[in-house]
Amino acid sequence: MSDTSDVVRVGLVGVGIIARTHRDVLEGQPRATLEFSVDPHVREPIDFRGTKPPHYATLAEALAAHRPDLIVLATPTSTHADLVTEALTRSTARVLVEKPLVHDLASLARLRALAETHEVAARVFTAHHFAFSPEVRWAADLLAAHPEWGPITSITSAFYDPYVLRGEQAFASYGSSWTDSGVNQLSMLARFVHLTALTSARQLDDGASAWCTAAFRSRGATGSARLRTSWRTGSSSKETALTFGHGDVELWIDHTAMTGFAARGDTLLASYGNDGQTPRKIAHYRPLYASLLSADPDPVLGFDTAVTVTELHHATPAPDADPSPGPEPEPT
Ligand SMILES: NC(=O)c1ccc[n+]([C@@H]2O[C@H](COP(=O)([O-])OP(=O)(O)OC[C@H]3O[C@@H](n4cnc5c(N)ncnc54)[C@H](O)[C@@H]3O)[C@@H](O)[C@H]2O)c1
Repeated sequence: MSDTSDVVRVGLVGVGIIARTHRDVLEGQPRATLEFSVDPHVREPIDFRGTKPPHYATLAEALAAHRPDLIVLATPTSTHADLVTEALTRSTARVLVEKPLVHDLASLARLRALAETHEVAARVFTAHHFAFSPEVRWAADLLAAHPEWGPITSITSAFYDPYVLRGEQAFASYGSSWTDSGVNQLSMLARFVHLTALTSARQLDDGASAWCTAAFRSRGATGSARLRTSWRTGSSSKETALTFGHGDVELWIDHTAMTGFAARGDTLLASYGNDGQTPRKIAHYRPLYASLLSADPDPVLGFDTAVTVTELHHATPAPDADPSPGPEPEPT
């Protein structure tokens, strides 16, 4: 992957639900070829552009026979840290790991310990796919174009997934509602504000729901975000509302429909829609891969962003935490 015209030989590890999206998007990337797939619970090789690349039960077996340029880890969250470590130490490939990068802070520390010997910052990328959703990129561009709206002062984000229907399997694949969706909310919000602290965190419904709050800085001011996640629903539904200044401009983005609008009082200021042709996950992962395979991948995919998001995601807020302002870098 040193040159943007080179062929990229990909190893796909984990052939479950989200791997289908990776496969479909990679098929549309002319430079990408599927070198192998890995999954201990899948026996058959998967189809890639009409071919069936070799399939293995373990990453170790695959790496004994192949030298991929990119290893994609689409396995249950609790396996990410071990598989990233294996990919870093047994290959020279870059690694795209599904979000969240890791399931706890101890795993993050293990990966950081590899930083000097295995070029972690240059090789490990996290698929923060919500940051690439079209309505999120539209809203980030709108925000940049309207400094006169003032700082963002409050955010409310609610992410619902119908995983109550998947029962224990949902916990096995995704950990908890906050583990799964909190990282999507935090990495998405990194497009708009500089998150500074998790100010409260409540796990509810035995981990199937959560209610968390975060502090952020925007254009020199501080603000607060309310983050609701839950699996107790019959259908997927994800929305975020941002309030600017003293509440006179509001920006609503609907992540399920990939739409948005901004309004001041009764006046519609801007709106965003789509032609309905591109499925949501493809709309996230197509630009994600285009960025990853470019000469200059978006920082939201990088290891530093994953560290920041992971530390916030797993923070244990003090009862009355007072987030320090700190410097305010540009949103990613
Ligand atoms: N499903 C989604 O919509 C979605 C979206 C974005 C990100 N993700 C993330 O992707 C990851 C996987 O989610 P999923 O929905 O595809 O889960 P899944 O349970 O459908 O698939 C995971 C696959 O990994 C395989 N696997 C388990 N251990 C393995 C190992 N050591 N080596 C190789 N394969 C192994 C399993 O057999 C299974 O086929 C999770 O971290 C999740 O947070 C999922």
